[in-house]
Amino acid sequence: MAEIIWGLATSHVPSIGAAMDNEKTEDDLWKPLFDGYAPAREWMAEHTPDVAIVVYNDHANALDMSFIPTFAIGAAEEYDVADEGYGPRQVPQVVGDAELSEHLLVNLVDEGFDMTVFHEIDVDHGLTVPLSVYTPDPGDSWPCRVVPMLVNVLHYPQPTAKRCLQLGEALGRAIRSYPEDIKVAVFGTGGMSHQLSGERAGLINQEFDRNFLDKIETDPQSLAEISRAEYVEEAGAEGIEMIMWLIMRGALGEKVRRVHDTYHVPASNTAAAMALFATDAAE
Ligand code: DHB
Ligand code: FE
Repeated sequence: MAEIIWGLATSHVPSIGAAMDNEKTEDDLWKPLFDGYAPAREWMAEHTPDVAIVVYNDHANALDMSFIPTFAIGAAEEYDVADEGYGPRQVPQVVGDAELSEHLLVNLVDEGFDMTVFHEIDVDHGLTVPLSVYTPDPGDSWPCRVVPMLVNVLHYPQPTAKRCLQLGEALGRAIRSYPEDIKVAVFGTGGMSHQLSGERAGLINQEFDRNFLDKIETDPQSLAEISRAEYVEEAGAEGIEMIMWLIMRGALGEKVRRVHDTYHVPASNTAAAMALFATDAAE
């Protein structure tokens, strides 16, 4: 049967990808952020999954704002890297796992989560930057297959944090019921506090972020009780992205071990963090 071995929460700020693509990771501006990633990267390199489920949001790159599914899954054999205006990032094509996607879809729909299906979607920085955070030098191919899971965090009304945690719990059950003996990692991407436009552009709330970073391990239920309005008020219009971490956390199950975390302000205009959690199946 399939096992979930780890979960990674990580910001997906595009300039983190650009810093890697343009070899700026040793510059004074970027070095502290990338030094913070190092212990987690080393651990993950020794615990390679067969598939990563990457929970992310498209930023009006592959999808325009005319059609915004609340929750969706990619069910393709492969995904092209999106052109976000400067040409696609020079990173490998993303190889999917259509059979696992199909299994997750059936199980999640049967549990009452009416997922939208993408048979084709280009993946933007929301997915490729987290893959680069995991594997900075992938060469010709990423180390594992990828199943994209998309969440609407852009357009009111975003799903509640509670619904995200519940979806994660159902996702965990769906993964563990997959009959193949594969190892799975789950990524929750986005955050932490940030607002990119308007009067509050540049908003950072370190107190809110630190509490979230702590409770995502020990008390995700308390984060699931926070309202949509409070996420936006406290963490910024784009800070609400961190509800996607709750899907990852729900999937891992109750018992997790924090392998490493790091918090850095700012990456671009954003409070950036990564936190890595292992399950008992990782040992
Ligand atoms: C930034 C952060 C994001 O999460 C994003 O999707 C786009 C930009 C930023 O801080 O620049
Ligand atoms: Fe984003």
